[in-house]
Amino acid sequence: MKGNFFTLRTVMWDRGKVKMIDQTLLPARLVYRSYARWEDVADAIRRLVVRGAPAIGVAAAMAIAATAWGSKAKTADALRKELEGAAAGLRSTRPTAVNLFWGIDRVMAASRLPTSAEDVKEAVVKEATQMAEDDVEACKRIGRFGADLIDDGDTVITQCNAGALATVGYGTALGVLRAASEQGKCVKVIVPETRPALQGSRLTAFELSVDGFGCTVISDTAVGHMMASGRVDKAVVGADRVTRDGFVFNKIGTYQVAVLAKRHGVPFYPAAPTSSFDLTRTHQEVVIEERPAREVFEVRGRRVAPRGVPVANPAFDVTPPDLVEAIVTDRGLVKSPVQDNIGSVVG
Ligand code: MRU
Repeated sequence: MKGNFFTLRTVMWDRGKVKMIDQTLLPARLVYRSYARWEDVADAIRRLVVRGAPAIGVAAAMAIAATAWGSKAKTADALRKELEGAAAGLRSTRPTAVNLFWGIDRVMAASRLPTSAEDVKEAVVKEATQMAEDDVEACKRIGRFGADLIDDGDTVITQCNAGALATVGYGTALGVLRAASEQGKCVKVIVPETRPALQGSRLTAFELSVDGFGCTVISDTAVGHMMASGRVDKAVVGADRVTRDGFVFNKIGTYQVAVLAKRHGVPFYPAAPTSSFDLTRTHQEVVIEERPAREVFEVRGRRVAPRGVPVANPAFDVTPPDLVEAIVTDRGLVKSPVQDNIGSVVG
């Protein structure tokens, strides 16, 4: 298989509106939703209508652009005040993926210089739409750098969805696999379902099967067995935030993949754009999102745990740098020891 990859854009600018695939409906239905109000985009981010670190960064930036587009403010300062309100609301949606804050900061920075309301509007729309293009380009560069790590015939395990659906297009971890396939390599993928929101079975398996990759969905509890029985050659995952001490925040379950990979001699590669790196913080300073208990105690609307039993639902976990072989970025590989080499690649 070569080329012809999942070509849908996850997040788009549509004449004053943010248009996004409703990922809560996949794989059963492919539906786009359009939002003109930042409050509705914030709600969509919270409900995982749009999810994945780079995708929520661009969606939030476009929500600010949509606010500017629809504003009746007469002066640049009045409009900037309105945008600050939107930015604060969007910042409060999800705490872990740094791309959200990066996207908001980038579009707000573009609003600072213009001296008329019209020029502020133009600047933020231009910046937000440029970010969407940049994201696809960054994913393709990640793919090119990462593809050389993959051998013909490899079976690669991933976690969650770090594909086109988690970005504007092409994907980070899945971008690496797409690029390897473009090089003519045959790659098979093992996809842990990724409870509780099932991004693996619903989204990754959907993307990969549309593209014609051989993929096998497993329960999250089968990861150790698949590795111990020699069925995994590489692990390639995404990242929601990489801190300056080399710790990788990604979807819950990633840490167990990394530990098991180390145990079984499987190289573990996170793939992430520069916008996912947070060189201002160490891992102790990052908040891990706790999501609603209902996601765990219910399966398809049916309760699967007794009433009253406490539930914990951390959405992300943290993989320490000693388990990481290299991080694939849009500027090249951050090789082990990653905590020492981050600065020279993405700094
Ligand atoms: O809760 P989600 O679905 O937003 O979590 C997504 C992930 O953890 C992805 O692996 C991560 O954002 C990297 S996406 C390129």
